[in-house]
Amino acid sequence: MERIFINTPSTKSEILVGHSWENLSELLPETGVVIITDDNILKIYRKKFPDFPVLSVAPGEKSKQLSVIEKLAGGLLELGIDRTGFILAIGGGVVCDIAGFLASVYMRGIRCGFVSTSLLSQVDASTGGKNGVNQGSVKNIIGTIRQPEFVLCDPEMLLTLPDDEFLSGLSELIKTAIIGDRVLFEFIENSRDEILNRNTELLTMLITRAVNFKSIVVTEDERETGLRRILNFGHTYGHAIELERGIMHGFAVALGMELATAFSKKMGYLSADEADRIVRILNAFNLLDNKFIPAEDMEKLIVHDKKKAGSSIHFVFAEGIGQAVVRKMAVSEITDFYREFRKK
Ligand SMILES: NC(=O)c1ccc[n+]([C@@H]2O[C@H](COP(=O)([O-])OP(=O)(O)OC[C@H]3O[C@@H](n4cnc5c(N)ncnc54)[C@H](O)[C@@H]3O)[C@@H](O)[C@H]2O)c1
Repeated sequence: MERIFINTPSTKSEILVGHSWENLSELLPETGVVIITDDNILKIYRKKFPDFPVLSVAPGEKSKQLSVIEKLAGGLLELGIDRTGFILAIGGGVVCDIAGFLASVYMRGIRCGFVSTSLLSQVDASTGGKNGVNQGSVKNIIGTIRQPEFVLCDPEMLLTLPDDEFLSGLSELIKTAIIGDRVLFEFIENSRDEILNRNTELLTMLITRAVNFKSIVVTEDERETGLRRILNFGHTYGHAIELERGIMHGFAVALGMELATAFSKKMGYLSADEADRIVRILNAFNLLDNKFIPAEDMEKLIVHDKKKAGSSIHFVFAEGIGQAVVRKMAVSEITDFYREFRKK
């Protein structure tokens, strides 16, 4: 088992990778715990849940709404949970985002911890303390930053994850390798079959490397005023594609990374060889389907994102494999490159 610590000005948080979630009770108080999960996880794992009351939400993004938070808060009140209570999330990114937000606002904040069950949440979503819900089609616009006391990542749980969800999470793992860990990139390049077979030992090592990298970034820049922006590699184009095509996050980010890779090559940050390696690894896991959205839609969505983000777009370029650099770009430069790429 690996232990990784996040020390920010506000809190200390511990991420345990490879720890069996069945030994969870040692991390929990004896009373006042409520489990928040989704109906899929409940169906598969209920029998192994620790013996505490359970509140379950419908699986998927549609549960990331304020009305769900309100309902869950009502559930906590009914169960008599007071300021000494503890929320234990057992689920993927959606459940952790909801539970983390609820824990930070219920009675002005109660304790919480996560059992992170999807690959996407183990390598990315459950590290870093960001939580929240959506407002209409605008993602994660209502939320807080607050570290859970612990995040437990048990790769054995990934054995029950549907294939497309596994691949979507893999895309974020590859992103981490491109922006911050060349050795991780090489491991992924050389272990395709073992990864697809979900070899638990190998996954423990890969997830540990990803969490290690993200924890360093988050410890330095918890509120995303600088370094943390590099985690958005592939996300400028990727978000637009995700919104327009309604495909899963990781697959949209993979297309966004293909574009950002080509852009990085054009800007002189990546050699042709390195750019080829990145596209090859994305193709090796069938993450690219070559279906790009019309340039006018891309422009509209990027302008929309810019309004949300403020004055300019911080675009993330890969600077060789294993490093990234952020540059302020005009919307026109980003959309012009998209048109150019699509003509090829
Ligand atoms: N807070 C952050 O920093 C951050 C970062 C990235 C993404 N996110 C958020 O994470 C969410 C996506 O996370 P996700 O991909 O985990 O989605 P998710 O939580 O919806 O899980 C995906 C699906 O897999 C199922 N599932 C999860 N674990 C399983 C398991 N072990 N076995 C069987 N089925 C399982 C879920 O029930 C769900 O149907 C998005 O809402 C995104 O905004 C947050």
